[in-house]
Amino acid sequence: MSVNVGNLDAIAVDARQRISAAADEATLNQLRIDLLGKKGVLTGALRGLGSLPADQRSAAGARANALKTEIDQRLNARRQELEQNRLQGLADSEWVDVTFIPEAAVSRGHLHPLTQALTEITAIFSRLGYEVALGPEVEDDYHNFQALNIPEGHPARDEWDSFYLAQGGWLLRTHTSPVQIRFMEAHQPPIRIIAPGPVYRHEATDAGHESQFHQVEGLLVEEDIRMSDLVGTIEYFSRSMFGAERRIRISGDHFPFTEPSIGAAVSCGICQGTGCGSCKGGWLEIMGAGMVHPQVLRNGRIDPERYSGFAFGMGLDRIAMLKYNIADIRRLRESDVRFLRQF
Ligand code: PHE
Repeated sequence: MSVNVGNLDAIAVDARQRISAAADEATLNQLRIDLLGKKGVLTGALRGLGSLPADQRSAAGARANALKTEIDQRLNARRQELEQNRLQGLADSEWVDVTFIPEAAVSRGHLHPLTQALTEITAIFSRLGYEVALGPEVEDDYHNFQALNIPEGHPARDEWDSFYLAQGGWLLRTHTSPVQIRFMEAHQPPIRIIAPGPVYRHEATDAGHESQFHQVEGLLVEEDIRMSDLVGTIEYFSRSMFGAERRIRISGDHFPFTEPSIGAAVSCGICQGTGCGSCKGGWLEIMGAGMVHPQVLRNGRIDPERYSGFAFGMGLDRIAMLKYNIADIRRLRESDVRFLRQF
């Protein structure tokens, strides 16, 4: 085909007419191929430019390129126009207003009640200057018993019956008190720590007992620490955790690693201390505590002539049960979301 500007004009007229007549996307796609494709009309014309006399070549080249751009734009514009028409032509029933679709409910979890209780306990004691210390759950006999004044054959071992590993004399710790020893071995006073974590006891399971539960140990060792400091600390803790209306009851107790030893109970929030099925005569035991035995300080390489301290150990599960009025400790480990969702 010989190429001249008149020829290009004819291509342009034809292309414009066919593009505006195209009624659907497929036709437009075919038109793009026919006009601009490798074997397209315009491509052929461009190829023929080389045979033009030199004085016409550049004018025709410019015209051909402009036409190429124009066709491309017209194809795109027509496609948009067709899409617009299609949307406008849709019957009301055929389209949806997405702003009216209710969003799918997102099911959102939350922290386990034990974690919630521990977070609160940690916050309360951090206000009193305590830091969190951790120890191993698999312990040796020395840290779990001997260093706490419970030598082999001591009758107190019956209270802390454990699970023993087949080798090496290791056991699953029966309380968090070994963390007291481990921390003292590595630090000198002033010491203020709480040590939370799982503990294990070989015992029958019922509504109040599990073979795995959680304790939060506390240890404070400084100069001139007395029983009144311990009682004040328990009082502050109980008020912060359970509310100012709860009373606390301190009674005598016995632990080989504290001297003297006490037990602390909080008045029951369900019966207000008059006695009900959830408590024992209006009170709920929350912790064992006492002044750290001088030999235990020595075992931790701390001089009992210079320093004194107190320690306490509370059952985290008990505290969570008290705080959230949970009647059965086993619920805390069942992972039943119908139960957990309530807290
Ligand atoms: N370890 C004791 C228990 O498991 C609790 C306790 C801790 C008592 C610290 C006194 C001091 O029963």
